[in-house]
Amino acid sequence: PDAGPVGDTVVAELRRATGLFGGSLTVSTAGAPVEADAVAEHDVTLVVAVRAPHVGGTSTRSGQPTADPNAHLVGPASGGAPDGDASAPLGEESFVLGRRDGRAWVVAGGHRGLLYGLHALVREGERAWAPGTDHVLDLPVSSLRMLDHWDNVDVHPVMGQVERGYAGGSLWFEAGRVRDDLTRVGAYARLLGSVGVNAVSLNNVNVGRTEARLLTDGLADVARLADLFRPHGIRTFLSVSFAAPMRLGGLPTADPLDPDVQRWWAEAAERVWATVPDFGGFVVKADSEGQPGPFAYGRDHADGANLLARAVAPHGGTVFWRAFVYNHTQDWRDRSTDRARAAYDHFHPLDGRFDDNVVVQVKHGPIDFQTREAVSPVIGALPRTRVAVELQVTQEYTGHQKHVCYLGPWWSEILRFPLTEDAGRTVADIVTGLPGGPDGTVHGPEVADLRAGGIVAVSNVGDDAFWTGHPLAQANLYAFARLAWNPEADPVEVLDEWIGLTFPDADPRVRTTLHRLMDGSWRTYEAYTAPLGVGFMVTPGSHYGPSVDGYEYSPWGTYHFADRDGIGVDRTRATGTGYTGQYEAPWRDVYEDAATCPDELLLFFHHVPWEHRLRSGTTVAQHVYDSRADAVDEVERTVAAWAEVAGLVDDGLHARVTERLAEQLRSATEWRDQVRTYVFRTSGVPDASGRPIY
Ligand code: GCU
Repeated sequence: PDAGPVGDTVVAELRRATGLFGGSLTVSTAGAPVEADAVAEHDVTLVVAVRAPHVGGTSTRSGQPTADPNAHLVGPASGGAPDGDASAPLGEESFVLGRRDGRAWVVAGGHRGLLYGLHALVREGERAWAPGTDHVLDLPVSSLRMLDHWDNVDVHPVMGQVERGYAGGSLWFEAGRVRDDLTRVGAYARLLGSVGVNAVSLNNVNVGRTEARLLTDGLADVARLADLFRPHGIRTFLSVSFAAPMRLGGLPTADPLDPDVQRWWAEAAERVWATVPDFGGFVVKADSEGQPGPFAYGRDHADGANLLARAVAPHGGTVFWRAFVYNHTQDWRDRSTDRARAAYDHFHPLDGRFDDNVVVQVKHGPIDFQTREAVSPVIGALPRTRVAVELQVTQEYTGHQKHVCYLGPWWSEILRFPLTEDAGRTVADIVTGLPGGPDGTVHGPEVADLRAGGIVAVSNVGDDAFWTGHPLAQANLYAFARLAWNPEADPVEVLDEWIGLTFPDADPRVRTTLHRLMDGSWRTYEAYTAPLGVGFMVTPGSHYGPSVDGYEYSPWGTYHFADRDGIGVDRTRATGTGYTGQYEAPWRDVYEDAATCPDELLLFFHHVPWEHRLRSGTTVAQHVYDSRADAVDEVERTVAAWAEVAGLVDDGLHARVTERLAEQLRSATEWRDQVRTYVFRTSGVPDASGRPIY
């Protein structure tokens, strides 16, 4: 009865689940006896308990606890029904999902846990009522699972309404304001809540004039959106402009050390929390690609971040301060400047100076969401700072949601990458505040202060009928959420889970075909685009389709340096930019030596001759020739495979995927022919395969 907005959602979801499964559904709260009513076919009991239940059977957990470090199952292996009186605390987001004698039950530490448990139960489907007795403790490994929307209120002349959006317009902004009809936002919030996303930022990190006003005049609209997210356990954030005190407040400066500026931010925060009491906080892109920041006042990024952090601290707010800071007007002639180095060079010296409610948000790679790049050393270089990793669900560099590119395997590699000294902590360990290491030991005194930042991604949804443009791109949104919940999850299992849930009644051939289309699609995409980690080679501006030299003489710092003798960027300490020195052991040495550098990152770290032999045994030139062509052959096969399931899935969906696959094949062919021909013309090295070169 007094369950609050999330509790109300649980009740509503229960009703819908009853519709799905039938049977009686009982809700109890801690201490209240569980009704021993007649066991219907699909009976489920939900309990909110501050303690884990006494339960029997076996238990597993999805990940190690962080949000609630003390959560674990306790009690004698007797009983078998939840009674809510055991002694281990369950965190607000944790739940135990169990079954006994055909009854399903969920015990959670709070309403959000109950909501997540109920959705987990729905995912389980009939299995949740299978005969037998067992239970599973599940809890998010990352306490912050956030989607950043790059939505503009106004339609931007170049970027459109959603920057790097490939699924139509914004779900919430339309024609310069928040829509009147927010029905789809409600559905979206439900969708995110069902997979455990618990934070959303509403607007683009590039904050325009109109967007800046969300912080002031637009607050009533922000509140309307927050009202829709709240019932699904999601807190709302805004991207703000560092220059807001000038743009909105008319002050002559935005200097973080200026008392008037500090007062302006404090008052702005007061108004925000007065309007949205559970508001999350701010996301900030400062001194990056033309956005204003503290450098203009001779201040650093700790000064800048702490300015906002102190304004929001009294309200429990958090500042997500992006580390995507580099010189975007560099001279291509200047070989000493390396964009990959920039974030580390700016932020590493600041470690320890950020307030507790600042999270430094770091892109997963040092350049920019490429199909393949090294893991950013910055993530491991701030042991006294809360760090979040930022992934990109929207397919900016991975085919604009025209190409099938299932990114789960890529994110899984990133999250599991053992980044710190002697492979002590993975990226996921660092951003979730886990000690890491094979035995869970903390490596070095400096990481004794373990604090979570979170897992963040740029969203890929829009007002498109399929939400994501390409219907199969929905799997990326799903995979992000599932991996943010548990970075150890197997991305292929997550894919199959998505396929099963999205096409529940489909002919088995549909599922097999979808798996076939998507499972290896990221590697296929990689294989027909820029090779061996060299990155870019995309059309400048749009970032879609090939333009091998498109960025070569640009100010953006994204070069491949190909000439008749070789290709790649020398980032070694010995002869290059020294970037390898930003890594701890063993990576600083693994990457330094072309003989030990993994093939897929070779050109990211080394400039090598075209006939350099890869670890795989083939040469760089021949690898490019073969893999580009093989990958397009693979796309051709997937087009044929999809044609075979016509009539077995919804016609509209089949048509949309067919149309996108045709474009993927056209574009992949263009990539193949341009990259292969470029290598031949540049290097003069013949292609042993005899396939056409133009
Ligand atoms: C990329 C992208 C931009 C975006 C930027 C960012 O560079 O192309 O559109 O603004 O990332 O992450 O801030």
